[in-house]
Amino acid sequence: MTGLLLIALGLLDWTFSYKEIAVFEDFLDNQLHSKTTELCRIMAECGSDKATSHRSSHHNYTTFYHYLLKDFKNSFEKVFELGLGTNNANIPSNMSGGGTPCGSLRGWKGFFPNAHVYGADIDRDILYQEDRISTYYCNQLDPSSIASLWSNFDFKFNLIVEDGLHTFEANKCFFENSLHMVASGGFFIIEDILNRRIPVYDSILQLARKSFSYAEIIVIPNPSNPANNPDSDNTVLVARK
Ligand SMILES: C[S@@+](CC[C@H](N)C(=O)[O-])C[C@H]1O[C@@H](n2cnc3c(N)ncnc32)[C@H](O)[C@@H]1O
Repeated sequence: MTGLLLIALGLLDWTFSYKEIAVFEDFLDNQLHSKTTELCRIMAECGSDKATSHRSSHHNYTTFYHYLLKDFKNSFEKVFELGLGTNNANIPSNMSGGGTPCGSLRGWKGFFPNAHVYGADIDRDILYQEDRISTYYCNQLDPSSIASLWSNFDFKFNLIVEDGLHTFEANKCFFENSLHMVASGGFFIIEDILNRRIPVYDSILQLARKSFSYAEIIVIPNPSNPANNPDSDNTVLVARK
């Protein structure tokens, strides 16, 4: 992947051991994190919390995703997201009553006109099907549940987004048991990484670099969720095969 610049931003001055955060030069130079994109509008309209909206401003992932994925809008045919957005308060990483279950799947469907969008969640009550959207049960803490999910497919995915249970253990389990499902040239993204936990993710990064041509943790600038706040979670791990 071109345009990569390793810079010591100093953003994470409380984790200087991890200051070599990879960022895309022109994404930052052009301040693209502050520019609303088509994907920002689509995700906000669909009720996902990936984009800044009237309800939330803590994530602007869609500014970066648009930069990363815009050239594949018409060519991506298989997109998957773990984590559909339950409002069930008894399930961890729920949307606190403000979510629209399957909203992000509808957002991907809108952005990728030629894609079938697949999703999975531990909450069976929100599983849902419509034209170009199919969802499945999966508990990402259980390798056999993940294997059972993937046994439904005889193809690989252009994009896998992990927005399920936001713990390192859950992210690692799902990544280890899913990286074989990414197609050549495809992406795997882990969302909602807490900045104070970034050093812990080094083991996932090292594993990713063995099977992917590119893997980095990206701290996306967002004035509403500043990078020097250890509890900020506007950070993603991106790997490309
Ligand atoms: C933050 S929400 C997803 C939001 C949605 N992707 C969006 O952009 O609007 C996280 C989801 O992870 C699911 N989840 C929690 N624990 C899980 C687990 N162990 N396995 C799979 N999914 C889980 C929750 O049920 C919830 O729907």
